[in-house]
Amino acid sequence: MRIYFDHNATTPVHPDVAEVMVRVLREHYGNASSVHRLGQEAKAVLDEARTSVATLIGAEPSELVFTSGGTEADNLAIRGVAEALEPTGRRHLIATAIEHEAVLVTLKALARRGWRTTLLPVGLTGIVEPGALEDALTDDTAVVSVMHANNELGTVQPVAELARLAHARGALFHTDAVQSIGKLRVDARELGVDLLALSAHKFNGPKGAGALWIRRGTRLTPILTGGKHERTRRAGTENVPAIAGLGAAARLAMAKGAAEGERVAVLRDRLEEGILARVPGTVVNGAREPRVPNTTNISFERVEAESLLIALDLEGIAVSTGAACSSGTLEPSHVLRAMGLPTHRAQNSIRFSLGAGNTEEEVDYLLEKLPKAVDKLRSLTARRA
Ligand SMILES: Cc1ncc(COP(=O)(O)O)c(C=O)c1O
Repeated sequence: MRIYFDHNATTPVHPDVAEVMVRVLREHYGNASSVHRLGQEAKAVLDEARTSVATLIGAEPSELVFTSGGTEADNLAIRGVAEALEPTGRRHLIATAIEHEAVLVTLKALARRGWRTTLLPVGLTGIVEPGALEDALTDDTAVVSVMHANNELGTVQPVAELARLAHARGALFHTDAVQSIGKLRVDARELGVDLLALSAHKFNGPKGAGALWIRRGTRLTPILTGGKHERTRRAGTENVPAIAGLGAAARLAMAKGAAEGERVAVLRDRLEEGILARVPGTVVNGAREPRVPNTTNISFERVEAESLLIALDLEGIAVSTGAACSSGTLEPSHVLRAMGLPTHRAQNSIRFSLGAGNTEEEVDYLLEKLPKAVDKLRSLTARRA
């Protein structure tokens, strides 16, 4: 039995996506910049994918820049706009303390080059308060970056309201929508943002393909320089098969529509309620609404999350911890720490993230195995104490 509850880390490639990619890899091997027929075929593949991704997020195809994924899209948004705005004298960047490292470490890098940065706090809800952004904004603020959905908790941020506040002070607004695309309906214009990052491998597309949506008229300096690809906004020969896969994943997400989200939410709620009812000493981290439909993050009192992850893996169930293992020590998740949770609670947490293909039987299998695994780990700790 192999059960995958780690879709926020990555998702399996859908068979239709794989089929499109293999066909493009074999047949459309031209360079999309070449003038001959093979080149133009590859260009047509890019055009089709661009239209599909644009339709998914309510954008114009010409506003999209293909990237190597979410990390590059976040970097291009923040570094690209920061550099373009440098001559205006605006030297302040704002993000939340619960952003992905792709944003947080980019801000740190810019701080070393003299940019002032502010990280907005979040409380136990894992949702940023608009008032906190209002207080942090200055006439110096160049860009505000707030993720649409958090990868560890699934909580959805009030992006439209935050973008309005940023614009009122003349700042641009970027949203990392890597964890909401394919889970929620996302319309870039309705959100009112200027830049939006997405990544194919989070919605059944391939790894190594993503896009940045740049609202028409937004000035941005490229971070990869070279040829005139992507309307001179991102140099480098396009990864045509991976981009074709991104386009196919976007079409599938549109075809599934809201129904798939509703199906997954029922499973997630069954899993969450089941754990809370069967395992004493458990609590859901962060607000339960608004959340993406597939994610729950649960703390297990007196259980080291890493041990529980391994116990579940031995039963064939893949989940993830809120803690990251770096240089042999367990670093508590920066997201749970930012919410003000004590270290032990941050080290007791497991993220379950569901997706296409998961079934009620799989949830029930987890609900059968998990309480036993927790009991066993707790009895071992009690004996050691
Ligand atoms: C919220 C968020 N942003 C950015 C990324 C990075 O995307 P990629 O893996 O495509 O570089 C991830 C991936 O985990 C993510 O969850």
